[in-house]
Amino acid sequence: MTNFTSIHDTDNPQALVQQVLELKQNSSPSTLGMGKTLGLIFFNPSLRTRLSTQKAATNLGMNVIVMNINGDAWNIEFEDGTVMNGSTQEHIKDAVQVISGYCDVMGVRTFAKLEDPQEDYQEKVLNNFIKHSSVPLVSLESATLHPLQSLTDLATITETGNSTPKVVLSWAPHPKKLPQAVANSFLQWITATDAQTTVVHPKGYELSDEFTDGVEVSHDQETALKDADFVYTKNWCSYAQYGQTPPVEKDWTINQQKMKLTNNGKFMHCLPIRRNVVATDEVIDNSLVYEQAKNREYAAQAVLQNILEEL
Ligand code: CP
Repeated sequence: MTNFTSIHDTDNPQALVQQVLELKQNSSPSTLGMGKTLGLIFFNPSLRTRLSTQKAATNLGMNVIVMNINGDAWNIEFEDGTVMNGSTQEHIKDAVQVISGYCDVMGVRTFAKLEDPQEDYQEKVLNNFIKHSSVPLVSLESATLHPLQSLTDLATITETGNSTPKVVLSWAPHPKKLPQAVANSFLQWITATDAQTTVVHPKGYELSDEFTDGVEVSHDQETALKDADFVYTKNWCSYAQYGQTPPVEKDWTINQQKMKLTNNGKFMHCLPIRRNVVATDEVIDNSLVYEQAKNREYAAQAVLQNILEEL
């Protein structure tokens, strides 16, 4: 493995999932990363990604350096050829070449800005990091995908032992507009399995065809939830009316009554979650969310281990 920015960076997603679960069973420390440095660059906030990736690197004997680039660093210019006499002080090509000089592996978190679909869906920031980095790059969530989360989610589903589950990805309410990255990425990984997958969301919240091709799409949440083994819930804003939040009439919060429609289904969410908005307390308190969060450590460790083995 060189970079890890999507499912396409692994030849065998199922084998990677098994590697995650094996690391969980046998979590003895490794010296593979001794003398190597992981640099983590955050354009956006994080709790799980930051801590689980740091922990994973430590488990492998790596040193870790972390920077919140917004506020702590110079303002970054992303356009080539710009006359930089305005508010930006450092060009992305200079910043990334310098940072990668301090690291053996780099991670970057860069959310969608939700202003220009082309800029986000062409992964402008992530691709600048890939282009200018002299070391392998791990996505810590990009504009359109969150592969470490999706690998974790697949491992969490796999460890329950159900290899042909009915999985429902349900849109849920949120007071702010959120990117499509987690939903896109979950579909990219779950459709590589034998799961029977349905996406359910209000009209106007269709995801890009790139991620829903071949997946059943519904606008009727209660029908979709019937007999589900896993209910993966996430909010996202409109893709077609990019960055907008069209009005939603029905109540899409996942509650206990809705979970009763499932096949004793397990509720999943990547966290952080707005309690009693996305799902009720009772649903969250009887869910897989903490298993998912714990598995982030082993997913990051598996990815870092594969990258270190190729250095
Ligand atoms: N799920 C997830 O990526 O959490 P953080 O945003 O806290 O890293």
